[in-house]
Amino acid sequence: MSVPPPTEQTAGIAQSGPAGDPLAQPDPALTAFWAGQARQLHWERPWAEVLDWSDAPFAQWFSGGRLNVAYNCVDRHVAAGHGEQVAFHWEGEPGDTRTITYADLRREVCRTANALLSLGLTAGDRVAIQLPMIPEAVFAMLACARLGLPHSVVFGGFSPAALRSRIADAEAKLLITADGQYRRGTAVPMKDGTDEATADTPSIEHVLVVRRTGGEVAWTEGRDLWWHELVDAQSDTHEAEAFDAEHPLFILYTSGTTGSPKGILHTSGGYLTQAAYTHRTIFDHRPGDDVYWCTADIGWITGHTYIVYGPLANRATSVLYEGTPNTPHEGRHFEIIQKYGVSLYYTAPTLIRSFMKWGEELPGRYDLSTLRVLGSVGEPINPEAWRWYRKHLGADRTPVVDTWWQTETGAVMISPLPAEADAKPLKPGSAQAPLPGISAAVVNDRGEPVGRGESGYLVLDRPWPAMLRGIWGDEERFRETYWSRFARQGYYFAGDGARYDEDGDLWLLGRVDDVMNVSGHRISTAEVESALVAHPSVAEAAVVGAADATTGQAIVAFVVLRGDAQHDERDDGTDVVGPLRAHVAAEIGPIAKPRQIMVVPELPKTRSGKIMRRLLRDVADNREIGDVTTLADASVMASIQQGLADG
Ligand code: WT7
Repeated sequence: MSVPPPTEQTAGIAQSGPAGDPLAQPDPALTAFWAGQARQLHWERPWAEVLDWSDAPFAQWFSGGRLNVAYNCVDRHVAAGHGEQVAFHWEGEPGDTRTITYADLRREVCRTANALLSLGLTAGDRVAIQLPMIPEAVFAMLACARLGLPHSVVFGGFSPAALRSRIADAEAKLLITADGQYRRGTAVPMKDGTDEATADTPSIEHVLVVRRTGGEVAWTEGRDLWWHELVDAQSDTHEAEAFDAEHPLFILYTSGTTGSPKGILHTSGGYLTQAAYTHRTIFDHRPGDDVYWCTADIGWITGHTYIVYGPLANRATSVLYEGTPNTPHEGRHFEIIQKYGVSLYYTAPTLIRSFMKWGEELPGRYDLSTLRVLGSVGEPINPEAWRWYRKHLGADRTPVVDTWWQTETGAVMISPLPAEADAKPLKPGSAQAPLPGISAAVVNDRGEPVGRGESGYLVLDRPWPAMLRGIWGDEERFRETYWSRFARQGYYFAGDGARYDEDGDLWLLGRVDDVMNVSGHRISTAEVESALVAHPSVAEAAVVGAADATTGQAIVAFVVLRGDAQHDERDDGTDVVGPLRAHVAAEIGPIAKPRQIMVVPELPKTRSGKIMRRLLRDVADNREIGDVTTLADASVMASIQQGLADG
């Protein structure tokens, strides 16, 4: 590895990279740190080089090394004598439960791997997975990892159209899904939707179906296979083969600033190293003692890294919960914490704000005294929610760790560490500092570091092991999206604003691009706009994120109707808004349904035709309208406001 002379900076406020460097160079102190972490995993063959950054921004970590990710997450613990330790306490939504030990997990993963082999899949083939939060979801992911089949997990709430485009982009050969899923006490079909998605995906050879809810499903002979027939009949042993450290582990799609989601690519050795390290230190995790619960869905990166790979690499005992937090009652999470003696709990600010709405008597009715570390992820946590969380779940004594990261970073990057909370007091609402091994900075427009008390753009100025290795099939978009904004300095541009306080601690301020954050889910304005304009009644649409007390941001759409639709609306007085909201849910998924759709006569545009979202955000947030002087037609905002007042 060619390394520059060591810099003084190891974490915290960074200086910009050496002038003239094509990309910020690795810091030998940081790479040495990560080599130490990687040694805690089981390697079939050691690496030759910790980090090869010669093809930046395409990193290679631990190249030459070989390991099997599933072996590290499962077999290794059984071999060390922990086969009887519980890996998952699974709690189904209707109240059914299942206890899965590490020995059970090994058998299930081996059976599943043998089933996938029987379908003719070979290392490198992609597998799409759309499943509810059932144990088979974990078995499927680990079986893929075991065989070197990159998985692409698609959140269960995404529409058939969204699933179809993800399958097509990754050219997946197999889809693993379920007949149905439980949602708020009722069984809703799932296979109907996946059949719709796979009607036009030539890459799909088989659909493997878990029976979860029972009931009739349509069946395509030769293509569709029942999990309980194929998998259960397999041998429960399978010899894991080691793969290159840079072998693709998974693709996970996330929204960007343009219409089509990006397939974020993660690989094996570096990803698992950082997943395990961060899970261990952020939660101060003690294998065999702690009971850990991350409430995310496996369809998101949080589920990948902090339900599956990180905790299993660390031999955690985890809760896996299928249902929603208020089914059948609003104390469900507290009941589960009490039942299993959960000690480490990781959730999102939006749920904490829901708990606050449901009332503080509720957590008070349960024994939550086992909790010792509380985590938060997904969006900036407001100090009120932070304090409430610590008071009502943490008895005012547990550390609350606010963890900043992204689908692209693969694992947590910025967070306080509970082990240090005595020496360095936590601050409600601040993620505080990059983790050991990580370097970040806040810079201004020109890429220069800002000082204490100032805000700017968050950048990552050194490569890190779990960093994305690209966007599936689109090298140019990878460079453009993350590496072009501060190309001269070679920084990774995260898309978030941040501020240093007077102590030099970091505060995350939310996205600085056209990406919304609704209940911790990333949704692009462009994606919702293109769904809206695909509807026959809509001529034009502009979407903005408005402040929302529960969901952080909420989607607000402004639409201009086509001539005939305008006419219809005037005639019968019924609105087009209901059908339009339903249309967006059908195109993308219910999470993208706008909170509000405002029908307006025109959209505010600059003379060059660019929509002025800033002004629409003012309307959506009920603020006074800002400067309108750059509008092509200054009267547009007045007519929008007039129309909304009349409506
Ligand atoms: C975006 C990434 C990382 C897993 C969940 C979301 C926002 C995430 C925090 C936090 C402030 C946060 C950022 C980031 N975000 N965690 N602790 N404080 N903002 O993953 O869908 O890839 O979204 O979520 O804006 O860029 P994602």
